[in-house]
Amino acid sequence: APATQKQVRVWVDGCFDMVHFGHANALRQAKLMGDILVVALHSNADITAHKGLPVTTEEERYKMIRAIKWVDEVIEDIPCYTSVELLEKHNCDICAHGDDFAANADGVDSYAAVKTAGKYREYKRTEGVSTTDLLQRLLQMTQQHLCANGCDPHNEGNKFLASSKLITEFMGPETREPSSGDTVVYVAGSFDLFHAGHIDFLQKCREVGNFIIVGLHSDREVNRYEGRSYPIMSLQQRVLSVLACKYVSDVIIGAPYTVTESMLDNLKVDYVLHGQTPVYPNKDGSDPYEAPKTRGIYRTIESGSALTTDVILQRIYEHRLEY
Ligand code: CTP
Ligand code: C5P
Repeated sequence: APATQKQVRVWVDGCFDMVHFGHANALRQAKLMGDILVVALHSNADITAHKGLPVTTEEERYKMIRAIKWVDEVIEDIPCYTSVELLEKHNCDICAHGDDFAANADGVDSYAAVKTAGKYREYKRTEGVSTTDLLQRLLQMTQQHLCANGCDPHNEGNKFLASSKLITEFMGPETREPSSGDTVVYVAGSFDLFHAGHIDFLQKCREVGNFIIVGLHSDREVNRYEGRSYPIMSLQQRVLSVLACKYVSDVIIGAPYTVTESMLDNLKVDYVLHGQTPVYPNKDGSDPYEAPKTRGIYRTIESGSALTTDVILQRIYEHRLEY
């Protein structure tokens, strides 16, 4: 577009509690409606008044949304009713929301005003995921004291479909092979319930290299080392969450647990990084990072965050009577 033409600024507001790939897919679609994507988040006080206590803190929610690759601007502490004045104040042309009805605490359509003004657009809601569903599932898990009755990350009956088209769309046009000027970093893990601790870790990884490859372990592998009902999110779901993060260049879908010599060669890995969380041994007791350690390219990273998937579950358990 010529420089004189005004860029279309798209506004999306929401709670974005326990950010999931449905949120990421919403923001991806909203970005396609214009040039600049502005995401406005409600405060925890506002969410508590309208929907109930959020699981994640304001700081965590803002951090998650800022790390999503389609997001250009984040505005904090926005009220739960979207007015035309609010859009104008932030120079936004249109307001986008999913095709589910959004009502505030009084049952009033939160988007009535922007609809009347002709500034409302709709994207397709992603089937099979929502904060409410996730919270119900996690509450059940914690109520059973994280019992060992097997994992079902695929959620029988879940409507979510991981098409290759969706994965490609999440990958985006920037897909490329690393070139000689790039420093390739490999990290592996479950990245379950992709959270602000993961963002802090990946941000630190970007200080070591500019091309980050995330190896995602299979559901079976994660269940072997995490036990209980883990993983919460299936491999396909974890792929989408991780791909939506702007620090990530590529993912290995179902990465082998042991980081082998041939993997390091094939992926042209310069560094293998891991945070401060424990490294579980392989089935045979061996160290999965033996090869990169021998090469002298293994480093540990201080993410500065104590947040883990377990911590999120503990929070839910502690506040179970408030949900
Ligand atoms: N959204 C979506 N697909 C989903 C979940 C959310 O497109 N599966 C969109 C909503 O339509 C909204 C935005 O993401 O435009 C923020 O939604 P929010 O209410 O924060 O998330 P939900 O997961 O829908 O939360 P809840 O279950 O508490 O309503
Ligand atoms: O636990 P999980 O396999 O999802 O962790 C993926 C990577 O993120 C690991 O290297 C882990 O140490 C790191 N991490 C971190 N800080 C956190 C949470 C995870 O450095 N708060």
